[in-house]
Amino acid sequence: MSSLIGPAVDRVDGRLKVTGAAKYSAEYALPGMAYGVLVLSTIPSGRILGIDTSAARAADGVIGVLTHENAPRVDPRGKGGGDRTLPVLQDDLVRYDRQPVALVVADTFERATDAASLVRVRYARGPATTRLADAQLYTVPNDMGRVLDLRAGDPEGALARAHVAVDHTYTTPIEHHNPMEPHATIARWDGDKLTVYESSQGVFTGRAKLAAVFGLPPSDVRVIARFVGGGFGSKGSIWPHAVIAAMAAKQFGRPVKVVLSRPQMFGSVGYRSQTIQRVALGANADGTLTSLIHQTTSQTSTFDQFVEPSGLLSAVLYPPPNLLMTHRLGRLNAATPTFTRAPGESSGSFALESAMDELAYAARIDPVELRLRNDATHDAEGRPFSSRSLRACLHAAGDAFGWERRNPQPRSMRAGRMLLGMGVAVGSYPANRSPASARVRIDADGSALAQSGGADIGTGAYTVFTQLAAEELGVPLERTRFELGDTRLPNAPNAGGSRLTASVGSAVKLAARDLRAKVLTLVANDVASPLRGASLDALDARGGRLFFKGDPDRGESYVAILRRHRLGAVEGTSDAAADDAAKRWAMHSFAAHFAEVQVDPDLGTVRVTRFASAIAGGRILNQKTGTSQIYGGVVMGIGMALLEHTRVDERNGRIMSANLAEYLVPVHADIPEITAIFVPEEDPYVNAVGVKGIGEIVIVGVAAAVANAVYHATGTRVRDLPITPERLLASAS
Ligand code: MOS
Repeated sequence: MSSLIGPAVDRVDGRLKVTGAAKYSAEYALPGMAYGVLVLSTIPSGRILGIDTSAARAADGVIGVLTHENAPRVDPRGKGGGDRTLPVLQDDLVRYDRQPVALVVADTFERATDAASLVRVRYARGPATTRLADAQLYTVPNDMGRVLDLRAGDPEGALARAHVAVDHTYTTPIEHHNPMEPHATIARWDGDKLTVYESSQGVFTGRAKLAAVFGLPPSDVRVIARFVGGGFGSKGSIWPHAVIAAMAAKQFGRPVKVVLSRPQMFGSVGYRSQTIQRVALGANADGTLTSLIHQTTSQTSTFDQFVEPSGLLSAVLYPPPNLLMTHRLGRLNAATPTFTRAPGESSGSFALESAMDELAYAARIDPVELRLRNDATHDAEGRPFSSRSLRACLHAAGDAFGWERRNPQPRSMRAGRMLLGMGVAVGSYPANRSPASARVRIDADGSALAQSGGADIGTGAYTVFTQLAAEELGVPLERTRFELGDTRLPNAPNAGGSRLTASVGSAVKLAARDLRAKVLTLVANDVASPLRGASLDALDARGGRLFFKGDPDRGESYVAILRRHRLGAVEGTSDAAADDAAKRWAMHSFAAHFAEVQVDPDLGTVRVTRFASAIAGGRILNQKTGTSQIYGGVVMGIGMALLEHTRVDERNGRIMSANLAEYLVPVHADIPEITAIFVPEEDPYVNAVGVKGIGEIVIVGVAAAVANAVYHATGTRVRDLPITPERLLASAS
């Protein structure tokens, strides 16, 4: 059951996708295009002593082989979007397992694949740190403008004096994003100008990085990503394969396509770091938190830095008087981790919300009630929340789920021979926004075209931006088209950090206003126009017409105005900067999740049998695509709770589960019916469109809700994800 706020508009690109007409990056066929297949390292650390490419070069159809010995020189640190340092065949150093060491280019993909298997690499192994527990740790007080270390009051003292306290360590494993569409790049040079078809969450950040790496002005680089089959953060940066494809296209004088295989997706395109998190909570007898300590250790690579900021949401959800938040990093001989759906909040909420559940049992307070008692009006830095509907989320999802049927006693409920458990957890995620631009146009036939170079990574961006443009211009939806995914379009940020709809939506709104203002200028002295002399704010637009508010008959159509003035089109543009609302308000989305599980008492297998989520994410533009976001977040969160785990052989640093047979993700049979609820929320401060972004909040807290349900079912607390039968049985004995 869902409450309807925005209409449930079908995806405007749905037909293109189901008929195969939507072209993804790997599906372009350019004249003379060659196929590149990467050869990856098999050791986590060391040097390349030699690469024998003779057999590969002699194989049928091979055009050439790129290695560190012949590759063009570029700047692997080039400062641009997504700012990863890229091992791109510039030296003989091996920094991690599955680092690219060569690219074999041939006239067909099959021949390139075959020849790649003939490349022989000799290595000198170096020492490797493969366990986070063995790594040298360093502190990260702030990163990307975020404060990651905070101390307020006397957290240790308050913990020691607390009426009730819990203090435990939780761990989350490495997870790989695994979007259905693997990373893919086609690169083509026209003289010194580079065009790249790239499976990307942001063509402009991609362009900035490629320009910096190749030492080009950004205007000489074009990045195109019209359709993207999922990203989850992994496509928010340019990775080595894209640079190497462009280097090969230059070297061999023809377009080169590089598509990663599924095992290669576990190499150089990022992953969610493992975390070790200490969460300590102290509370009064009534459950009010007096102390919160959240200390996170995560991993980065030997040559680059990425922080998994797991503690951030603690200061948002329950800002207590005494707070300690720290983040430390350990350097491993591994690839650099990156953003993964709700980076920080996702892993952090497992630890924090498991700890809150433990506190609820220790204090003998209902877990929902404990969270209601600790609801807040201000964040840890004292800013008031622009809106905070956490209570409404708990009530809406709790009622739909039937929380009142829960017997609070662990291991007290059964479904036949299965142990039945119910768990709750909540989450928050920042409402982000970045500068964006948009262009809108109405043609003489009354149709509208709107443009901004964002990405639709499967979220429904094409659809909600078409809806927004149609609404703001007053043109019917079916006469409105939206173009995105190309650096020739107006600037837009990454589809990342749940920021795209707020950013581009605000720009579209302003561009539409600019267009209406231009129309009014046209008719300012037009005696034939009923709109003559009207002010912008006096007008409404609908059905392809502009008219006076409250007087629909007093107005005329865009078509009539353009015809009378002999114009082919009228255009509006905008540059929408983020305002300073974020300085004055704490702006976040909130979520409450309820899970029911059944656990086999003999085998330790866990099945999620029911799930209810309520999300407060500001205005929901499209009930249908929004609900799909909830489904996706819950499915991914259930995977996080029970299945997902990248296994590394600690002896040799090799990833052992680099395929979807051993890296488990949920299948249909693992997923119950999901009740998806959007809590109505109007936030006048967050941005002009009133949206908070919902791509990430939907996963925050899901894994903890499942883990808490498993505890309620069994009386066994598993503090390490994923909750496998082995771990559940081992912890129980
Ligand atoms: Mo999202 S993990 O910020 O692409």
